[in-house]
Amino acid sequence: MKILVLHGPNLNLLGEREPAVYGNLTLAEINASLFNLARELGVEVVCKQSNYEGELIDQLHQASGASGEFSAVIFNPGAFTHYSLALRDAVAAVPLPVIEVHLSNIYRREEFRQHSVIAPVAVGQISGLGKISYLLALRAAVTLAGEQEQGEKK
Ligand code: DQA
Repeated sequence: MKILVLHGPNLNLLGEREPAVYGNLTLAEINASLFNLARELGVEVVCKQSNYEGELIDQLHQASGASGEFSAVIFNPGAFTHYSLALRDAVAAVPLPVIEVHLSNIYRREEFRQHSVIAPVAVGQISGLGKISYLLALRAAVTLAGEQEQGEKK
């Protein structure tokens, strides 16, 4: 089983970007924790980051495309969370479970962050737990994808 982790804009700056909000870990360190957990769970994780809306849309399309490579997606859309209808449509279009994650608790921040246009089309959302948001999402993704695969065999 292969899970795609998609990090959106500005997440490449983690570690130096607003550490009081996002913590001190770099993106590479978060990815390393995901690779460790993936090894424990016996699955493969591929991590990608982009600052471009269109690139994130292409990645979502490819994840479920002809190669059928991935079983689920863990997606932190960054600020696109709050207004990108194109990304929302891409999430709705892909026949894979997509779990939305945020490092910070978007519901206790500025008002404009308290709304996600992605959440209604995601299978679920985990917000506010820093690195743990991603690690919980990986456990959930593996369970959900496993259930989906079992259902397809029946
Ligand atoms: C974020 C929250 C967004 O509001 C913000 O624009 C980000 C990061 C988070 O992980 O907490 O870039 O998605």
